[in-house]
Amino acid sequence: MRKTLLNPAGIVTADTKGKNCKRGKELNEINFVENHSIIVEDGLIKDIIPNSSVKKTEAVINVKDKIVLPGLIDSHTHTAFAGSRSDEFRRRLQGESYEEIAGKGGGINTTVNAVRNSSVEELINLLTKRINYFISRGITSLEIKSGYGLDFENELKLLQAINYVKDIFPIDIIPTFLGAHTFPLEFKNNRKGYIDLIINKMIPHIALHKLAGFCDAFCEATAFSAEEVDIIFTKAKEEGLKLKLHTEQFNNIGGIDVALKHNITSVDHLEVLEDSKLKSLGESDIVCTLLPGVSFFLDYQFAPARKLIDHNAIVVLATDYNPGSSFISDLNLIMSFASLKMKMTIEETINAVTINAAKAIGLNDLTGSIEINKFADFSVFDTTEYSDIVYNVGKNLNCLTIKKGEIIFDSTGEFK
Ligand code: NIG
Ligand code: FE
Repeated sequence: MRKTLLNPAGIVTADTKGKNCKRGKELNEINFVENHSIIVEDGLIKDIIPNSSVKKTEAVINVKDKIVLPGLIDSHTHTAFAGSRSDEFRRRLQGESYEEIAGKGGGINTTVNAVRNSSVEELINLLTKRINYFISRGITSLEIKSGYGLDFENELKLLQAINYVKDIFPIDIIPTFLGAHTFPLEFKNNRKGYIDLIINKMIPHIALHKLAGFCDAFCEATAFSAEEVDIIFTKAKEEGLKLKLHTEQFNNIGGIDVALKHNITSVDHLEVLEDSKLKSLGESDIVCTLLPGVSFFLDYQFAPARKLIDHNAIVVLATDYNPGSSFISDLNLIMSFASLKMKMTIEETINAVTINAAKAIGLNDLTGSIEINKFADFSVFDTTEYSDIVYNVGKNLNCLTIKKGEIIFDSTGEFK
């Protein structure tokens, strides 16, 4: 079916001229097109043509006085969780730190407890509500990690729930295995035992049954050492999984070197990244995913976005939506944090949640920019100035979400 996104106030194409990502100075170029409409056919972008060339007979989605962006992509989330950590939030308000709480067996392990006590149906219900919210905020592709089961049965339960919603929702959902999130309490004094379980049982099963495309880990003093991550990554790669790493959040313990060694897809967090690592990241093809929601939520330092961009790195922004360190699921708010607190330009924040975010989940040749033959994935904003998207802090102007040419969210009332 052919249809036209008719007469928008402007189209932010994030065009890459076929390169499918933006690094360094290019991150500031969004390619803003006016007086044009977008032709969609069979779920793909067919053409971008002057308004004057649109045939009167064509089926239209009228986006007059609205701004069209590529569908937003949240490339780092922990959406599959149960329970609440509001009591830990209260403790943090009284001065206890996130790391102190984790050290006392709380933090991630609090959520592990809640997940272990939930059925797969309960997890699916929680996921469903949260994914609907993401869609209403303009998200057309969403990565979701496991990592709150931390044993064979419960990691599989999480991946089962994630794969269930992957099959029923119209957006692209990318499941990531995060068995190496932290050590579960029963393996606190047997680290090798847990790593053996990950590499001998969990990874082979997940790879065989294609339950996840990525394997992630947390390289941190309270979680896995660089050597332990290396063992896990070696196995995951052998089994055909792509790799991601939570690293340099609180301490530098060698995560970047392991990431470079395995040439992984993305390094995420980087709040305490050392200057000495900037050059190698800038020269690599590894995506640097920054999570300013975490810095805000934990009242902590922000990642050095400007330095990374100046060193030609591929920078991405994501929510890191989770119950402990970033209970924030609006990517638009993250864009505002990135501009205000990390001094990214409005244009840079847009590319960081579209084309570069697509690279972080391995879909950048299919989506992330408005280029011919890519998926017709769009987030449509109720404004005539694209700067308003970031300038509005905490008010998301998304009014239409379109996935592969179909309207999947509409607050205009026009297409219901
Ligand atoms: O990305 N850093 C590790 N993991 C998550 C937090 C998970 C949690 O606190 O539940 C993060 O910040
Ligand atoms: Fe995370």
